Amino acid sequence: MSQTAQSSRKILIINGPNLNMLGMREPKIYGSQTLGDIEKLCAQSAGEFGFDIDFKQSNHEGEIIDWIQEGKDIFDGIIINAAAYTHTSVAIHDALKLLDYPVIEVHLSNPEERESFRHLSYIKPIAAAVIAGHGAKGYVIAIKELDRILKRQKP
Ligand code: DQA
Repeated sequence: MSQTAQSSRKILIINGPNLNMLGMREPKIYGSQTLGDIEKLCAQSAGEFGFDIDFKQSNHEGEIIDWIQEGKDIFDGIIINAAAYTHTSVAIHDALKLLDYPVIEVHLSNPEERESFRHLSYIKPIAAAVIAGHGAKGYVIAIKELDRILKRQKP
C-alpha cells in the first residue's frame, strides 16, 4: 500500500482465541488489562505514529483467515496475537504468506518460557519481528517496530 500519505497508513491487529477473556483469564500470566484496554492503548499509540487501526478478535480460525485475506490490499502491516493458533495453525501461516507487508507476532506472555507445546510458532518463520513477554505494552512495542520497519522499507 502507499505510504506517501503518512496519515493513511493502516494496521490490522488480530487477536486469536480466548483473548476476549483478558482481565479475568489467568491474570498472573496475562495481566489484568482487558482486550478493550489494549485496544485503547493501541489506538493511542497508533495515532502517535500516524496509523489507523482495525482491531479485531475471534475465537474461530476460519474467521481469522478470512480477515487476513480480506486485508491483503487494504493494510500496510499486520500485528497478530494468534494465541493458541500460533502453535497449531498451518492455515494461518499460509494466509499470512499471502501478504506483501510486514507481519509482527505479539504475545503477552513469553511462550518460549512456558510449556513445551507453546515453543513452536507457525507465525515466527514469516514474522518480521516477534514481541513476547511484555504484557499489553507488547502491542505498543509492535506498533513502534512496524513503523520502524516500514520507514526502513520506504523512508
Ligand atoms: C498467548 C500465548 C499462547 O501460548 C496462548 O495460547 C494464548 C496467549 C500470549 O499472548 O501470551 O492464548 O498468545
